[in-house]
Amino acid sequence: MLEQLQIILSEAIAEISKATSLEDLDNLRVSYLGKKGRLTLAAGKMKDLSKEERPNAGKKLNETRSKITQSLEEKINHFQQIEDSKERQSLDPTLPSNPIASIGRHPISQMLDQAIKALRRMGFSLASGPEIETEWHCFDALNTPQDHPARNESDTFYFDDGKLLRTHTSTIQIRTMENTKPPVRIIAPGAAYRRDEIDATHLSQFNQLEGLYVDKDVSLADLKGTLEYLLQNIFGKETPVRFRPHFFPFTEPSFEIDILLDVEGKKSKWIEIAGCGMVDPDVFNEICKARNDDSYSPEKVSGFAFGLGLERLAMIKWGISDIRLLIENDLRFLGQF
Ligand code: PHE
Repeated sequence: MLEQLQIILSEAIAEISKATSLEDLDNLRVSYLGKKGRLTLAAGKMKDLSKEERPNAGKKLNETRSKITQSLEEKINHFQQIEDSKERQSLDPTLPSNPIASIGRHPISQMLDQAIKALRRMGFSLASGPEIETEWHCFDALNTPQDHPARNESDTFYFDDGKLLRTHTSTIQIRTMENTKPPVRIIAPGAAYRRDEIDATHLSQFNQLEGLYVDKDVSLADLKGTLEYLLQNIFGKETPVRFRPHFFPFTEPSFEIDILLDVEGKKSKWIEIAGCGMVDPDVFNEICKARNDDSYSPEKVSGFAFGLGLERLAMIKWGISDIRLLIENDLRFLGQF
């Protein structure tokens, strides 16, 4: 047995040294170390040896295997280096590299950055909240009764446990007041979800930017000034902004905000871009109950809130005609911003 192993080893080494390609080496590996290789067959004969002979033969077998493996690897490395250097010779390092696509930020991110920058200048700080919400945070605390259409299953995504995908970021108004004493001055960007048919102006997931300011003596004039500054910062200093009376369950009075849009060659048009209003006293009362204190008592504080649709802002700003373009990730579209 020991002799046989010695023969296998010296023949293997001789053949490996004569190999002229990686393919040769792979064939040698199979013929010596493979399932039916010479060394494997020799190992099969171990069982015929006597107990005394076995340990020695086992040791020799392992040595033979590792020597063959090592010499195979050395030769493989040798061939690999030759191939690598051939490749290097055919490489021209002075050629210009492939251009890396540089297309800037997504229009929604740009819109958001600009809005946040303007609002920070007025002292607002960022807040956030979960996208999976309780009915209480999304509706009850916002003075939206059980029979309100927004609560319908056909308008909102519910989970089996009664939670839901928030239909607006106004939930963050509630979460902020639950956890922080006034004064609060926050902006909260985030996704909102509605069971809308997807078309050129609707997605079932979209992005809003919520704002809330609560302090002593906050007035409608503060609301108007803040939003005019914000919108003129985004759309230009001269842009006319109009507040039109509207209804939201959680603000009183409530308004929709329009801006006058000038499109070259067309008649200017008022376009609705946000909802807003003074925080309804019922919302403050509900917060007092939840906090179990009177820090948000409508006798002590007042406030305003607003919600902007970011897709809508971007569509108006850049004249994008189909909201779906914003989520398709088509570089030909995104490269234009
Ligand atoms: N949450 C309202 C919506 O999604 C917008 C809004 C926010 C209105 C804050 C008033 C105050 O339509």
